Amino acid sequence: MTHPILITGGAGYIGSHTALQFLRAGHTVTVLDNLSNSSPESLARVQTLSGKPIRFVEGDITDPECLAQLFSNNHFAAVIHFAGLKAVGESVAQPLRYYQNNVAGTLCLLQAMDAANCRTLVFSSSATVYGDPQQLPISESAPRSATNPYGRSKLMIEELLEDLYASDPRWRILCLRYFNPVGADPSGRMGEDPQGIPNNLMPFISQVACGARAQLSVFGGDYATPDGTGVRDYIHVVDLAAGHLAALDYLLAQPQGEWLAVNLGTGHGISVLDMVKTFEAASGQSVPYSVVARRPGDIAACYADASKAHQLLHWQATLGLQEMCADTWRWQAQNPQGYRLSASAGDKKS
Ligand code: NAD
Ligand code: UD1
Repeated sequence: MTHPILITGGAGYIGSHTALQFLRAGHTVTVLDNLSNSSPESLARVQTLSGKPIRFVEGDITDPECLAQLFSNNHFAAVIHFAGLKAVGESVAQPLRYYQNNVAGTLCLLQAMDAANCRTLVFSSSATVYGDPQQLPISESAPRSATNPYGRSKLMIEELLEDLYASDPRWRILCLRYFNPVGADPSGRMGEDPQGIPNNLMPFISQVACGARAQLSVFGGDYATPDGTGVRDYIHVVDLAAGHLAALDYLLAQPQGEWLAVNLGTGHGISVLDMVKTFEAASGQSVPYSVVARRPGDIAACYADASKAHQLLHWQATLGLQEMCADTWRWQAQNPQGYRLSASAGDKKS
């Protein structure tokens, strides 16, 4: 069955890869995005790769009028909700902006959905809701906590979604807790396009490999991990996008409402040095690095118990570290300016 779907934040990194798979699966896709951290060029490429049209509404989830108009003019079977701000350091410096955008924005979205009788939602949560995990691998029943305003915004949204379902069991709500999304579409046409200095490991490594940055700082070499560097569960964005299709299929097949949370990860831990070595092999470039002090707030290791996604959603990750590195490198090498070069070429024409 195919359905009309609203994707908030669909011009962004994960949203654009997900939009591509939804179109390929035959769904009709509308994207709502304020372009605060993305370019419309990502959606142009989604259309080219899928050969299908995508409807784009430039607007904000904190704007009730924009949402009311969108929901009154369209019927959506479900909302896939990516829109949000995601930089941890920025959230510490600007907590009000993060709570306004992420929490208040989600409230506005839920009110508009409720008014329109659209009560099926897939929400982008994060492994950050597990705080500093006491047990590995991390299962969905592990205690939740937050160590910064970004993480707290995800936790608050999960909790308000639980309250919403408890108040009205017609809601079908699935919180997907992503581990560390990396990689790019294998076409080399779509990928992660961070503004400024990347905070996350994979985009930083790929910028070092292409010569845009001199070297990687490895944050800490004295963790209680096999090689002393931080261990994470990296998941290919193409697998992650497929997890959203599986989540939608699951929710729409349920005879009754539900709130649940499911991890999306591979279940495997990868160290910073594993990542550097695999990236060097995949790209044929060297990635110089030096080990420096730990990054404040970092944890030693984090990886998923991915069994619930397998059992319930019939989903599991299929792509490994080699593909994550090779696809990231293809995107980086073919688009050294990210989506910006195409945008400026367009500007010159007009
Ligand atoms: P992204 O910044 O590339 O995409 C988010 C999109 O939302 C952007 O296109 C941005 O312009 C849009 N947006 C932000 N605020 C908006 C608003 N008020 N109204 C409309 N659009 C708005 O980020 P991403 O990496 O694709 O992440 C998508 C979601 O997944 C986010 O909610 C993020 O917190 C969550 N998440 C991401 C990661 C990760 O490592 N990338 C990990 C866990 C969870
Ligand atoms: C970060 C966020 C987390 C978010 C996740 C999404 C912080 C504190 N946490 O987590 O909330 O959900 O991204 O993917 O920002 N590293 C280096 N050098 C670098 C960058 C990273 O050594 O230049 C190391 C880190 O110490 C860590 C690993 O690489 O061990 C991964 O880091 P990163 O990509 O930032 O992800 P997380 O720390 O897991």
